[in-house]
Amino acid sequence: MNKNIAIYPGSFDPPTNGHLDLIERGSKIFDELVVAILRNPDKDPLFNVSERAAMLEALTGHYSNTFDGLTVDYAVKVGASSVLRGIRALSDYEYELQMALMNRKLRPELETVFMMPAEKYSYLSSRLVREVAQLGGSVKGLVPELVEQNLRGKLDPAYKLAEFAPARQERSETRKSRARKKA
Ligand code: PNS
Repeated sequence: MNKNIAIYPGSFDPPTNGHLDLIERGSKIFDELVVAILRNPDKDPLFNVSERAAMLEALTGHYSNTFDGLTVDYAVKVGASSVLRGIRALSDYEYELQMALMNRKLRPELETVFMMPAEKYSYLSSRLVREVAQLGGSVKGLVPELVEQNLRGKLDPAYKLAEFAPARQERSETRKSRARKKA
């Protein structure tokens, strides 16, 4: 019997608890769920594609695929018959409907399946997570701990200062010893 394979495409910059919730739900109704990260050269991402793939792999325990070009072409390439997308609020619907119908026009054999994440994640998006984290707010409970740590590593100036502090101290020691030699 044919396996019922779905692709779950997205930017995942970064993966959120909403994404993980959807992956869990999707995995229950499809035999195989292929999480696929879009390699989009037009965007200026916070995490590069390898960083996002590494995070998703650590979080799901499965290999994460990356793709470029059309989602529907990639879906067909991996043998998927469905494209899974999450819908949070009515505001998502218009864009998602447009995308689903365009995808249907391109590949009528593929179905788009919409699923809703848990209510507690209904306002959550990667864009908001990036914005809040970049402005120093807490994203605890909205992203997995691993993502929280990686966000801190990327954005927290104190973290970077700590990282570079020894080098700075070394330079200052060298300056002091030069000054002593001159004297
Ligand atoms: O997580 P996102 O940013 O909402 O995901 C959007 C994504 C990657 C699913 C969408 O931009 C996409 O499918 N891009 C690939 C190019 C493509 O197929 N474009 C036509 C869509 S109708």
